[in-house]
Amino acid sequence: MKILVNAGPTREKIDPVRFISNHSSGKMGYAIAAAAVKMGHEVTLVSGPVTLPPPEGLKKFISIVSAAEMAEMMKKEFVYADLAILCAAVADYRPAHPENQKMKKKEGNLFLELERTEDIALSLGKMKKNGQLLAGFAAETNDLEANALTKMQKKNFDFIAANVVGVPGRGFGAEENAITLYKADGTKKELSLKSKKELAEELLEELLKK
Ligand code: PMT
Repeated sequence: MKILVNAGPTREKIDPVRFISNHSSGKMGYAIAAAAVKMGHEVTLVSGPVTLPPPEGLKKFISIVSAAEMAEMMKKEFVYADLAILCAAVADYRPAHPENQKMKKKEGNLFLELERTEDIALSLGKMKKNGQLLAGFAAETNDLEANALTKMQKKNFDFIAANVVGVPGRGFGAEENAITLYKADGTKKELSLKSKKELAEELLEELLKK
C-alpha cells in the first residue's frame, strides 16, 4: 500500500530571523512512518523542521518549512497515495506581510497582521477519490470528542486520531501519547497511553483493518 504521512511543525516567516511555529517534535508522525515501513508499505514522509533523522526505508522524504510548502507537496503526493495520515501541526495563520530585513525595535507595542494558511486537510478531503483513505489528527485541550467529530466531518476524513495536548507526558514533544480513534462508520477505539512507537503500530493496524 502507498502511505503518505506528514509530520512536525511548520514555520511562518515574520522576518529573516523570526518565525511563528509550535511545539511539534515530529515524534508521532515519524513513528507512524517508521511503523508503516516496518509493515512493508511504500511510505512518503513530508516533514516540517525537526531534529529527528528520517526513518530508514522510506520511499521518499520531503523536507518543507512553511504551511504553503507543506500544502504544495501534500497535494502533489496525495494523488499517488492509498492512505494519507495527517499528523503535522500546520500553522493556521502566517504573517500577512513578512519583512525581507530584520525588523527593528521601536517604542510601544507591535501588532502583527496574520492571514489564514491553506487548510491542507480540507483540500485533500475535497481531492479524495474512491478507494483513497484520509486519516487526520485532532489536537485538543478541551471538548475532545465534539471537536474531533466536527473536524472529521468538515475535512472529509475516514478516521480522526484525537489526542489531548497541553498536559505534560503526552502530545507535543512527549515520548508517549494516547489516542481516541474515531471512524467515519461511527465507531471509536481507545488507544491508551504508551510510547509513540507502539501507539503508531496500533494506530496503523486499526486504520488498515478491513
Ligand atoms: O510531533 P509531536 O511532538 O510528536 O506531537 C504530535 C502531535 C501532538 C503534533 C500530533 O499527535 C497531532 O495532534 N497532530 C495534529 C496537530 C494539529 O494541527 O491538529 P489540529 O486539530 O489543529 O488540526 C486538525 C487536522 O487538520 C490535523 O490533521 C492537521 O494536520 C490538519 N491541518 C490543520 C491546519 C492546516 N492549515 N492544515 C491541516 O492540514
